[in-house]
Amino acid sequence: DWTPLQTAVETCTLCDLHSSRTQSVFGVGNRNADWLLIGEAPGRDEDQQGEPFVGRAGQLLNAMLRAIGLQREQVYIANILKCRPPNNRDPKPDEVVCCEPYLMRQIELIRPGLILALGRTAAQNLLRTETAIGRLRGRVHQFRDTGIPLIATYHPAYLLRSPGEKRKAWQDLQLAVETLRERV
Ligand code: URA
Repeated sequence: DWTPLQTAVETCTLCDLHSSRTQSVFGVGNRNADWLLIGEAPGRDEDQQGEPFVGRAGQLLNAMLRAIGLQREQVYIANILKCRPPNNRDPKPDEVVCCEPYLMRQIELIRPGLILALGRTAAQNLLRTETAIGRLRGRVHQFRDTGIPLIATYHPAYLLRSPGEKRKAWQDLQLAVETLRERV
């Protein structure tokens, strides 16, 4: 059920990040969504507002969704980590391990038709690989043993720094649309 899961995340002290967070960031959106988008971890804006992808990267993410005809409210958005790492450093392996059961439960409850991994951290952790994001993107993976198709693409924050890569992200979104279309 969602309520105990949400409470567990709000009160979580499993890793050190709980001592520096303003609040945890559970996830947001349609709990019956076909699309589950997974990013890395809350940034400063997300830590303050309690919602994933509300800063500049989030604005770009919303625009990417609109480009494929989706409102933000139609999808579900979560992160690998529920709490902000200080100074936006990369998540540490022990933090990922502590946090993973929360995301796994969210995936079980949502049962999405497709997972879109945003950026290296999400893609590598979900696929349990160290392969570079540039090699993971552009094709359809499976999320572990669930049969849920997983597509990896660049993180919107990376696209803000490297707009020349937007074309590839657009191709990944098209692949995701087609993959979902084939499933239904
Ligand atoms: N970057 C992420 O990976 N997740 C957020 O929620 C915000 C920025």
